[in-house]
Amino acid sequence: MNRKEFLEELIKEYSSKNPKSEKIFRSASQKQIRGGSHNLRLFPPFPIYAKKCKGSKVWDADGNAYIDFWQGHFANVLGHNPKAVMDKLRHFLKKGQGLETGFPEQYQRKLAELILSRTKADKIRFTTSGTLSSMYAIMLAKAYTQREKVLKVGGGWHGAHPYALKGISTYKDGLNQSESAGLPPSADSMVLVTRFNDLQDLEKVFRQYGKQIACFIIEPFIGAGGFIFASQDYLQKARELTETYGTVLIFDEVVSGFRFHAGPLQNLYSIKPDLTVYGKAIGGGMPVSAVAGSEDLLSLCNPETPMEQRVKFEGGTFSGHPLSMLSGITYIQHLIDHEAEIYPKIGKWGAEVRIGIREIFSSYGFNVKTTGDGYSIAPDSSLIGVQFLKKPMDEVTSPEQVWDPEVSDVELREAAFKLAMMAEGFNTFHGFGAISASHSPDEIQASLEAVGKIAQKWSQYHIQDDLKIKG
Ligand SMILES: Cc1ncc(COP(=O)(O)O)c(C=O)c1O
Repeated sequence: MNRKEFLEELIKEYSSKNPKSEKIFRSASQKQIRGGSHNLRLFPPFPIYAKKCKGSKVWDADGNAYIDFWQGHFANVLGHNPKAVMDKLRHFLKKGQGLETGFPEQYQRKLAELILSRTKADKIRFTTSGTLSSMYAIMLAKAYTQREKVLKVGGGWHGAHPYALKGISTYKDGLNQSESAGLPPSADSMVLVTRFNDLQDLEKVFRQYGKQIACFIIEPFIGAGGFIFASQDYLQKARELTETYGTVLIFDEVVSGFRFHAGPLQNLYSIKPDLTVYGKAIGGGMPVSAVAGSEDLLSLCNPETPMEQRVKFEGGTFSGHPLSMLSGITYIQHLIDHEAEIYPKIGKWGAEVRIGIREIFSSYGFNVKTTGDGYSIAPDSSLIGVQFLKKPMDEVTSPEQVWDPEVSDVELREAAFKLAMMAEGFNTFHGFGAISASHSPDEIQASLEAVGKIAQKWSQYHIQDDLKIKG
C-alpha cells in the first residue's frame, strides 16, 4: 500500500464513523473560514464536533466517545469540566453573579496572590490570552531596555502577534522564516531566531547583537516545538547572557505553568526570569492569562509612568473577568492542595506511555521516539510527543528535528497517527498529548493497546518501508 492509499483509507474510515460531524463542518464552513476559529481544532479532513466533555472523555455529534489526550489545548490538568470548578461557578451564577461588570473585584486580587505565592515575581497583571500576554511582556521589555530586537527560539510558539510570528514550524534550512503575511515591514529584521538548546548559537547571537536585544523569550518546555525540555545548562546560560547584555529574560510558561507541579517550571530549574507569561491552566478552563515579573518592569504599565516609557498594557474589556478569575482561583487552589497526589500520578503515567509507545513501535521495526521526558528536572511530566523518524537517532532534542520533513515524518505524526488513534477511540495531538488527573490506569493501558494494534497493522502493510520510517 502506498502512502496515498494508506491516508485515503484512514480518511475513509474516519468519514464513515463521523457523518454528522462532516455535515456540521460543511454547514459551518459556509459562514466561517474552514468551519470555525483556531486551526488546530479544525484538523483535516474535518473535526469531530463535541457534544459533551467530562473528565477524560469527549462525546461527539455522531455519538462516538473518545478518551481525550488533547484536553483543551493541554490546559486541562484535571480533565474536562472538573467538579471542583463547576460547583463553584454554578454557585456563583446562582447568586446572580459572574458576568462582566466593569468594576474591579476581589477575585483578581485572590488569583494574583495565589499565583505569586508559587513564584518569585513581585507583580502580576491579567489579560485574556497567551497571545496578548506574550505580546505585552515583549512590549514591556522593549520599553524597559529601549531596544529594538526580540530574540526567540526556532519552534517557539507565543501566539499570533507581530513579535512572534517567525521561526515556528515552517522548516526551510532551519526554523527561521516569517510565517505570516500582513506583518509590519520591520517585523522580519526585528525578530531574531536562535536554536533551542544550542548554547553555542545563543552565545553567537548575543556576541553579534547583544546590545540591541530587548528580550529573549523562551518556553522552558517547548510545546509546539515538540515537547522538549530546555537543558539546565542552556537556561542557565540564557540567564547569564541576558544579565551580561542587559536583556530581559522572558519565560513563556503558557504550557508549562502548573503542568509539571503546582507552580511554574522555572522553580524546578531554580532560574528566575525577569518576566513570565502564563495562560492555559491558570484559568481552570476559562480565558485567563497573565504577565508576572519584577516591579521595575511591570510598573511600566502603571498610568503614572511617564508617557515616553509607558506601555499600554491596559484595557481588555474582559481582563480579570469575574467568572474566569473565580475559576482560576478554584483551580489553582485545588492544584496546590492536591499537588502531592496529582503530579506524581500523571507524571508516572506519562512515563509509562512514553516508554510504552517507543517499545511497541520498536518491536515492529519502526523508528519512533517519544518526547516530553523531563528526566531529573521535571520527573512528573505528563506530556507526550511521538516522533516518526526518517533518520536513526537516540533522542529527539530539537524543534528542527521535529519539523524538518527530512528527519521527521510530520504527516504521519500529525495526520495518519491521529486518525488511526481516533479509529481506536482516542483523541491525540502532536503524536499523543496530555495526561490529566481524570484519566484512569485502565484508559492509559487501553491507549497503549491501541498503539499496539496500529503498529501491528502498519507493519503488516509494510508501510514502514514505503514511508521510509524504518530505523
Ligand atoms: C507557549 C505558548 N505561548 C503562547 C500561546 C498563545 O496562547 P493563546 O492561545 O491563549 O493565545 C500558546 C498557545 O498554545 C502557547 O503554547
